[in-house]
Amino acid sequence: MRKGRMKVLVVGASGALGRAVTAALNERGHDVLEASRSSKHFVDLTKPSTIDELFKAVGTVDAVASAAGVTPFLPFAELTEEHFQAGINDKLLGQVELVRRGLPHVRDRGSFTLVSGVVATDPIITGVVASLVNGGLDAFVRAAAIEMPRGVRINAVSPTALEEAWDVYAPYFPGHRPVPAAEAGRAYVKSIDGAQTGQTYRVGY
Ligand SMILES: NC(=O)c1ccc[n+]([C@@H]2O[C@H](COP(=O)([O-])OP(=O)(O)OC[C@H]3O[C@@H](n4cnc5c(N)ncnc54)[C@H](OP(=O)(O)O)[C@@H]3O)[C@@H](O)[C@H]2O)c1
Repeated sequence: MRKGRMKVLVVGASGALGRAVTAALNERGHDVLEASRSSKHFVDLTKPSTIDELFKAVGTVDAVASAAGVTPFLPFAELTEEHFQAGINDKLLGQVELVRRGLPHVRDRGSFTLVSGVVATDPIITGVVASLVNGGLDAFVRAAAIEMPRGVRINAVSPTALEEAWDVYAPYFPGHRPVPAAEAGRAYVKSIDGAQTGQTYRVGY
């Protein structure tokens, strides 16, 4: 853990979750570098070479926070091999590559914080790919944490459905209570400013 103002790269900064993460980190006085396909710093997690270009552009950082990643939502009977590959390539391997390629550019005792999600452990109809990917991400941070060099830490934030996306998600999450994205933003602060590693922070459930 580094004390004081940190340089934090937020991937997926333009999204509902990413905006809340950026706001929470700004409130802590950190310097946020915003990245995504449409942000100031370009990256497309499905094209790993752009991750290398991103780190070349931003240089060494204290922390990397990811709030990106897309998985298809369809009934199991309609899912094809391509749907599984798309979700795995985007949200799972995209974030794994962010860690693998980003590691040399993160300072000693820095951190990675990835995003998974509630359906890893609390499945919904149409959510099989997301459950597989999110469960994989939770397992990945648990495993990668014990092999991170130089005191670098890694955690995941696993929110339930966000209030900001509830108009779209409500029909798929019967009986769930949405959580404000700001709550998830606080979990990123816990991961980045705290000292824990290998954790999945559940938010709103
Ligand atoms: N919304 C929820 O209720 C909820 C609940 C639990 C977990 N999550 C997870 O939280 C994450 C963010 O969700 P959200 O609701 O904030 O989504 P969102 O509003 O659609 O935002 C997605 C963000 O990721 C970026 N992005 C998408 N594809 C990318 C790519 N290939 N490379 C780089 N950046 C990419 C987008 O920016 P560009 O389009 O500019 O690239 C945007 O900044 C997702 O992984 C989602 O599964 C969401």
